[in-house]
Amino acid sequence: MISIEGLSKYYTSKKNQIAAVDDLTLNIKEGEIFGVIGYSGAGKSTFLRLLNRLEEPSKGRIVIDQQEITALNSKRLRLARQEIGMVFQHFNLLWSRTVKDNIAFPLEIAGFSKAERDERVHELIELVGLSDREHAYPSQLSGGQKQRVGIARALANNPNVLLCDEATSALDPETTNAILDLLVNINEKLGLTIILITHEMHVIRKICNRVAVMENGKVVEQGDVLDVFLHPKQRVTKRFVEQVMGVDDEDDGVSHLIHTYDHGKILRLHFIGETTNQALISQVAKKFAIDINILQGKITQTQRGAYGTLFVQIEGENEEVNKAVTFISDETSVEVEVIRDAN
Ligand SMILES: Nc1ncnc2c1ncn2[C@@H]1O[C@H](COP(=O)(O)OP(=O)(O)OP(=O)(O)O)[C@@H](O)[C@H]1O
Ligand SMILES: [Mg+2]
Repeated sequence: MISIEGLSKYYTSKKNQIAAVDDLTLNIKEGEIFGVIGYSGAGKSTFLRLLNRLEEPSKGRIVIDQQEITALNSKRLRLARQEIGMVFQHFNLLWSRTVKDNIAFPLEIAGFSKAERDERVHELIELVGLSDREHAYPSQLSGGQKQRVGIARALANNPNVLLCDEATSALDPETTNAILDLLVNINEKLGLTIILITHEMHVIRKICNRVAVMENGKVVEQGDVLDVFLHPKQRVTKRFVEQVMGVDDEDDGVSHLIHTYDHGKILRLHFIGETTNQALISQVAKKFAIDINILQGKITQTQRGAYGTLFVQIEGENEEVNKAVTFISDETSVEVEVIRDAN
C-alpha cells in the first residue's frame, strides 16, 4: 500500500547539515494502523510531511497506492494529496469558520457544489459525533471536539490514507481515549490506512497493529506491536516499553522478596493484552491443585486486556506446579519466565 525506500531529508544551515530523516525504508500495509514512535527531534513530523510532499525529499522514493508520489508534477501532486488526509496536534482549524464550514473547506477547494458539500459535511459530522455542534465556532469547542473537526476535515475528500501527527498530544487522557476510539472506528468502517505519530507508548499499545521506532532520522526497530512490547531490542524501545510495562528489573525490591521464598516457583508473567490478570489467576488456581500468591506487579487494564508484569509464587506438588506453568505458557497469551525454582 505504502512503500518508502531510502527516504532522506537534509536541512543545511551555514554551519552544518542535519539529516532529519536518514535513509528510511518502510512498508505499510493496506488498512493497518501503523504507529511511529520516537523522542522529540527524532524526525517523526518531517517523515510524515515528506509522505505528501509538504516537505520535499532530498532523496528516496515514496509509492502510495501504486502511485509514485515522488515522481508527480505539482498538478498531479495536488490531486494525489486529496487521497491523503492529515490531522495535526494543534488542530489547525480556521477560527472564523463554523464547524460545518471548516469541514466543507477542502470540498470547496476540490470544486464540489453547495448541495454535494452539504450532504458530505452532514455525513462527516455524524461520523465524528458532532451532530449538535455544527454551527459552533472553534473557540466554542473543547479540545476533543476540535480534534473531531480536524478528523472530519481530513476525511472530507474520502482519502485512502490518514496521517496523524501527535493527534492526541494536546488532549487529556480521557479525551485521548475517545479520539483513539474514533480513529479505530474510522479505520474499521472506511478501511482507511492510518499512520499515527506519537511519543506515547500507550497510544501505540491501544490502537496500532505495527510500530516503527525512530531515532536520529532512522527506523531503529519495527514489528508487530505485541512483539515489540515483549521483546524490545533497542535501548530507546526499551525505554518506551517501560512507559507502560513498568521497569523491567529486579532492583525495585523484588529480588529481595524473591530470595525470602524458599519453596514453590516464582514466575514473572508478561501480560500483553488479550487476557485479564484476574481471569488468568483464578482460572489457573481452579484448574490445578496449587496456590498462587501475587508478590508484586504493575498491570494496566485496557479494553484489549491487561498489559504489564506480575510476579507470582506458585506452591503445590511439583507435577501440578509444572502443569500450571505449561498451561500458562502454551494456552494463554501470557509469557512466562521462571525466575526462581525452589520446588
Ligand atoms: N525546517 C527545518 N529546518 C531545519 N531543521 C529542521 C526543520 N524541520 C525540522 N528540523 C530538524 O529536524 C529534526 C527532526 O525534526 P522533527 O520535527 O521531524 O522531529 P519530531 O520527531 O517530529 O519531534 P517532536 O516530537 O518534537 O515533534 C530536528 O533536529 C529539527 O530541529
Ligand atoms: Mg513532531
